[in-house]
Amino acid sequence: MKIFILGSGVMGSGIGQVFAMAGHEVTLYDVREDALKKGMESIGWSLGKLASKGVNPDEVMKRISTTTNLQEAKGSSTIIEAVYEDLKVKGDALRAVSALEKDAVIGSNTSSLPITELSRYVVIPERFLGTHFFNPPVLMKLVEVIKGDLTSEETFNHTVSLMNSLGKYPLPVRKDVFGFVVNRILFRLFTSACSLLERYSPQEVDYVAMRELGMPMGLFMLLDYTGLDVNYYITKEAERRGFPFRCSVLEAMVKAGKLGRKSNLGFYDWS
Ligand code: CAA
Repeated sequence: MKIFILGSGVMGSGIGQVFAMAGHEVTLYDVREDALKKGMESIGWSLGKLASKGVNPDEVMKRISTTTNLQEAKGSSTIIEAVYEDLKVKGDALRAVSALEKDAVIGSNTSSLPITELSRYVVIPERFLGTHFFNPPVLMKLVEVIKGDLTSEETFNHTVSLMNSLGKYPLPVRKDVFGFVVNRILFRLFTSACSLLERYSPQEVDYVAMRELGMPMGLFMLLDYTGLDVNYYITKEAERRGFPFRCSVLEAMVKAGKLGRKSNLGFYDWS
């Protein structure tokens, strides 16, 4: 199948890698060449790690091409949108790509925007839904498949099967609520962790999360890992929609350029 991925950041490149590893032809799109280069470097690094686990990096790489030309979305059977978490940015990207290929199923990797709201931007909302992968997509089995009010049953069932065929564990989400399922839990944990910062360091809180709660990564490590700018945007969306996700330190950190792992500095020093 021909797969088109909009956005070559951490999530877009990782999702593209997942499809290519399952044998699909993938085109990775971004507006900037340097973003594509970074995305391909990250795929190369990940495939290098997986080489000892039976993956042939060259075979997978051969199935991935890059482009800055959106017209190349024509002829794709599946399009995954993984651009910046912002309603306008996602809306513009979805409007443009959905006008080019009307037969494709389009999935958005949004973590916080309602699928029904995003579906207003696409030409055929029946063929649009949420496909929420988790970071790092190549290692995380779970994918939330979210049905918007207008998503057809056919599109929903087809996508659940497609995720199964990728070796993923699709979680069908029929209620398009803020945070879907996973982030409704996770954002509350982040809120609790952030409220502890008055008395404890991020490292102390993470120690407890990992040692006592058995999480594979501490909560502040996870905030850094998914990006403080993305999480700051999500707290704003949460506030607007009355969902309890607060983390007051994020604003100052983002304004100071501390974006987490991607900028080498956040709650942790990743350099
Ligand atoms: N590709 C290939 N290999 C990778 C990799 C990737 N993307 N990322 C890490 N690895 C490798 C590591 O380099 C390491 O290799 P070596 O053994 O050669 O050193 C190996 O995998 C194991 O990694 P770790 O030692 O770090 O061990 P781990 O068991 O902790 O696995 C992890 C890493 C899967 C990321 C784990 O830490 C984890 O599950 N973390 C939590 C991730 C999570 O919760 N993600 C969801 C975030 S929320 C989100 O994404 C959505 C949102 O909406 C905000």
